[in-house]
Formats: sequence, C-alpha cells, structure tokens
Amino acid sequence: MNEFADDRQMAGFKDFYQFSAPTRVIAGRDLLAGAGFEFAKEGARRVLLVTDEVIRATGLLDRVAEGLTDGGLAVAAIYDAVPQDSDSAVVAAIAELARESGADAFLALGGGSVMDSAKVANVLFTHGGTAREWEGYYGLPRADDGGGRALELAPLACIPTTAGTGSEVSFAAVIKDREAHVKYQIGDFALIPRLAILDPAATATLPPPLAASTGMDALTHAVEGYVSRDWNAHADAYALHALRLIRANLERAVHSPQDESARGNMLIAAALAIMPTTSGALGIAHSLSHPCGALYDVPHGVANAINLPATIEYNAAGGEDIAARYRDVAEVLGVAGAGDVGHALAEHVRALVASLGLPTRLSQVGVPESGIPLLVEGAMGDACTLVNPRAPSAQELAELYRRAL
Ligand SMILES: [Fe+2]
Repeated sequence: MNEFADDRQMAGFKDFYQFSAPTRVIAGRDLLAGAGFEFAKEGARRVLLVTDEVIRATGLLDRVAEGLTDGGLAVAAIYDAVPQDSDSAVVAAIAELARESGADAFLALGGGSVMDSAKVANVLFTHGGTAREWEGYYGLPRADDGGGRALELAPLACIPTTAGTGSEVSFAAVIKDREAHVKYQIGDFALIPRLAILDPAATATLPPPLAASTGMDALTHAVEGYVSRDWNAHADAYALHALRLIRANLERAVHSPQDESARGNMLIAAALAIMPTTSGALGIAHSLSHPCGALYDVPHGVANAINLPATIEYNAAGGEDIAARYRDVAEVLGVAGAGDVGHALAEHVRALVASLGLPTRLSQVGVPESGIPLLVEGAMGDACTLVNPRAPSAQELAELYRRAL
C-alpha cells in the first residue's frame, strides 16, 4: 500500500459526504423470464416497454415482454424508437405514450440512451413539463414543505444491454438538446431505478466494438470517480472493485462475446463503477467527451476512450496527492513502474483502447481542429469539471483536445 493510500484511509476523514445505492439489483443467468415476477414486487402492473429498433430486432424485447406477462403484468405499450443519443422530443413522446396507454410503470431495455430516456420520460409522465425544464440537480418536486426526498415517480426497471453507462443504478440522466447542440443532465434521487436486472443474455448480441466502447465508459467512471474531489470511502470501495472486474473481464468480454461470465462480470462492473458519482459528476474526461457527442455525434464511450489518457497525464501532474490516487488505480490495473504514474497509466489505457479495436484519436471520429473553441466552451461549462482533481483553464482544455486530435 502506498503512502497516500494510508493517509487517505487514516487521516482523510471527510467533514461530509452522502452515498445512496437504493436500486434492488438482481444479477445472474436466465433472469429475463422472471422480469414480471420481480417487477411486480416494485408495484408495476401495466408496463410501458422502452427500447430501440436494434434491440427489438434481436428478439430480446419479446423475451422480456413474455417474462412480464408470465409474471401477471400487462404490456401497456412498446416504444422502440430511441435513437443513439436520446433527446427532448423522444422523451416527450415516451411520456405521452405512457399516458395514452394507461401505463403505470416503465421498463427500459437497452443502453444508456434508452435507460436515460425512460428515466426522464418518467419525470414528465409524473410531473409534466418538458425535459429541459427539469435540467439540473435536486430540482424535482418535493412534499409540501419543499424539503425532504423528491416525490416518487412511477416504478422503473432497467435491463441494460450494454455494460458501461451504469444508468440502471444511477440518479442522473443525460439528454441531448439537438437545437442547442448540448447534452444536459437531470439528477435526483427519485430518478434512481427501483430494479436493475443484470443478465448476460441481454448483452449476448452486443457487437465487440460496442462492448469495447461501453466498457471503456465504465473504466472511465471508475477512474474518474476514484480520483474525483468528491472521493469518499464508499465510493472508493465501489471504484476499486469495479476496476478489478474490468481488468479481469473487459478484453475477454470484447474478444469472446460468447463468454457469458466475462459479459456478466462486465455488467456488474459497470453497475459498480457508476456508484462513486453519487452527485452525477465525474471528471474532465467526461467534460471533454460530452461536447464531442453534442457537436459531432461521437459515441460517448468512444469519446471517453480517446480523452481519458491525456486527462490522466494532466491530472497526475497536478500534485503528489493526485498522483498518489492514480498510483492506487495503476496498482489495481497491474500497471508496473515506480516512475511517472500519469504517463505509465495513460500509456496503459492507450494500449488497452488500441487492443480493443477502438479509435485512438478524435480526428478519426470526425472532430476537426477548428471545432476546439466551441468544444472548450462546452467542456468548461460541464458540471463534471467542478469535481475534477485539478481546475483546468480554457487553454489547458484546448491543449487536451489538441493532444487527442
Ligand atoms: Fe460516462
């Protein structure tokens, strides 16, 4: 154990932190057929199924719908048109369909976009308004006095079909505003799904490039969560075990899609990796990546895979205490060497990204150098920048983009 880790555990008692992990998680094999039995325990009766066309075409949706009816629940309606990045209009359409069909619960079957769409549609379904009107943290209606917990939404269950986002257990959702070219976040305790079903059968048809990019999103969550200014003991436990699982399973899950154990362990890793971010904020890899998605449609996990290495080098150079946190990450990931931990860890991540077959440069995914000023503007304003261990200037963010081009 290195010196700083000792310090963090013995002297680093924080004045305050909060941590909440209320989602009932069931993980294992052959769980789709029991979806109705399990979701009934959360109060669901008439379920709106939310998914995308790709998932629907795999036949997974039919298995889940069958599982719901076998458990005595009704399928009120199916919304299967969630795009790669959910947006305000899609969320409104889902909420409207829920009302029209008399649904009283939501089940999201898909990746981050599908789950985030269902989460925010649930807000509109319960409280009305538009998605953008609910932007921000802790802004959902509370009981009469305005204090206390946010009022409950309809029951929401999530069955992730990618192992990356962690949205199935998280309190935030990211939605794209296509007109304004921004991605905005909505976060509150009421958004946390009641039930997450982690079954590798749901990721069996996930193609290797998507397993790779979403897995890199999970890795980024664990790394950024661990080094965040918002670190705390609960978060550390989740982040470090997520990193162990990712180290042992990510490459197998990508290169051997039929490896059910690796695929299942990555689902668990993703659900653990998001938990350090109770506040919904991560670090500047995410700050850099959100505008890449908003302006150039770069998939979230791909953007993180490209942006993470340079942010590690930048952050680790910000002081011995920050470097020490990265040494913990390096140790768990099996990165050897006592020298410059930022460089060693960044090189390790670069090699991993390449071995997974993902792009390694922003210029490969349609981001032009001329876009940097606008990208920097988005990254500076991103909530994730606030919890990064170093406070970057606009010039430093521009330099990070340039290094990733
Ligand atoms: Fe992410």
